[in-house]
Amino acid sequence: MAMKAARVLHLCFLWLLVSAIFIKSADCRSWKKKLPKPCRNLVLYFHDIIYNGKNAENATSALVSAPQGANLTIMTGNNHFGNLAVFDDPITLDNNLHSPPVGRAQGFYFYDMKNTFSAWLGFTFVLNSTDHKGSITFNGADPILTKYRDISVVGGTGDFLMARGIATISTDSYEGDVYFRLRVNITLYECY
Ligand SMILES: *[C@@H]1O[C@H](CO)[C@@H](O)[C@H](O)[C@H]1NC(C)=O
Ligand SMILES: *[C@@H]1O[C@H](CO)[C@@H](O)[C@H](O)[C@H]1NC(C)=O
Ligand SMILES: *[C@@H]1O[C@H](CO)[C@@H](O)[C@H](O)[C@H]1NC(C)=O
Ligand SMILES: *[C@@H]1O[C@H](CO)[C@@H](O)[C@H](O)[C@H]1NC(C)=O
Repeated sequence: MAMKAARVLHLCFLWLLVSAIFIKSADCRSWKKKLPKPCRNLVLYFHDIIYNGKNAENATSALVSAPQGANLTIMTGNNHFGNLAVFDDPITLDNNLHSPPVGRAQGFYFYDMKNTFSAWLGFTFVLNSTDHKGSITFNGADPILTKYRDISVVGGTGDFLMARGIATISTDSYEGDVYFRLRVNITLYECY
């Protein structure tokens, strides 16, 4: 008698286990199915010229908070930890700073790790060219030393109304603490 009950219990347990696994894998499948195909892709560059105390004419970004010594014309140690910069950078279709700009990248970044170079970006591409009119807003963590970093496309206006997707950024070039250029490969999964 007791053996029979134990066997029934055992079968019940097995059934629960199998159905739990089944439900879980079904969930995974439906989650994967929901991932849409990209609906739009574009690659743009933006150029950040950091104010260094001597380049006021050409600078497109400036430190607004630099805790160490609070000297806003010099970057601090500790991988720039705590520095906050505001920027209004030209956007170009290729990697040439002197190409005609198609818009401005406007926003900020701050360095948020003491033991390595890492930043957090929040900015908007304001585009006003014959091809694109509207804006795309991005944010996300930027582990600068990694070659390709994914940040989120969280919205847009105009030609990019309610855009959502991923932007893969990479540092295309840099010159010391004065200039860097980011390549931005924008892949949208929601387009209207
Ligand atoms: C600003 O840019 C122009 C054109 O590229 C260059 O000739 C000039 O030397 C730059 N000025 C400064 C202060 O960097
Ligand atoms: C800030 O740094 C610049 C560039 O190194 C230097 O010329 C200037 O004297 C410094 N200012 C202060 C208040 O320390
Ligand atoms: C876009 O450019 C056009 C033509 O230069 C200008 O008339 C318009 O005001 C600009 N729009 C914005 C939002 O900057
Ligand atoms: C941009 O990113 C997408 C998605 O990761 C990729 O398929 C595409 O090849 C990239 N385009 C360029 C020009 O790098």
